[in-house]
Amino acid sequence: MSRLLWCVVPAAGRGTRMGADCPKQYLPLAGKPLIVHTLERLAAHPRIAGLLVVLGAQDEHWPGITALHGKQVSTAVGGAERSDSVLAGLDALPSEVGDGDFVLVHDAARPCVREADITRLVDRAAQADGGLLGAPLRDTLKRADEDGHSLATEPREQRWRAFTPQMFRRGELVSALRAVALDGRPVSDEAMAMELAGFRPLLVEGAEDNIKVTTAADLALAEFLLARTA
Ligand code: CTP
Ligand code: MG
Repeated sequence: MSRLLWCVVPAAGRGTRMGADCPKQYLPLAGKPLIVHTLERLAAHPRIAGLLVVLGAQDEHWPGITALHGKQVSTAVGGAERSDSVLAGLDALPSEVGDGDFVLVHDAARPCVREADITRLVDRAAQADGGLLGAPLRDTLKRADEDGHSLATEPREQRWRAFTPQMFRRGELVSALRAVALDGRPVSDEAMAMELAGFRPLLVEGAEDNIKVTTAADLALAEFLLARTA
């Protein structure tokens, strides 16, 4: 597929698990805010047309970027849950993005995403109902009781970890997210909303170093990875 895609970047979270003085997407990483690394990687991708960054209502840290690599960077105000923020971003996309057009959604907190993985996702998911980057589970999986004792070993086959970017048709994703919002049903990613709407998103294997920076240890790892991934 040759059409360029817009990418919604949810960045309206507070980074509670990081516990820093500012939301984690603004923490310094190799000399610039974490989110700037993420946005630069996305904007540099030849298949991406523009970025729609979703910010928190009280955000005082956004550096006011309006363009990167010659591509438009717009903003919208997010909501209480990640899915509310993604919906706000989808609603704010330029009118040139039709309901039938594919859009990407990528966490601001994943700065190490690789260009080749975005390309593979875009190529493969466009042949399906949309899709997402992920990786098959490699470790043995345990089910624990509340005190952290292992109760059982769960099958690992056909179990994947879900990453972003995720790619769906704008109109179908908006409908799916609106439906779960009406139900008051929490969803942890776009693919879950699409599954509940009856779609079967394609899992596209990507590099496991596309980490979501969540804790202080992840920051150090991301700095290391950024230096060696492209
Ligand atoms: N996000 C968002 N709107 C929300 C919650 C999250 O746009 N209401 C964004 C975050 O900014 C992040 C991505 O969704 O880029 C993934 O969320 P997560 O890693 O959970 O970030 P936070 O919610 O900020 O972190 P925490 O859960 O530790 O508070
Ligand atoms: Mg969160």
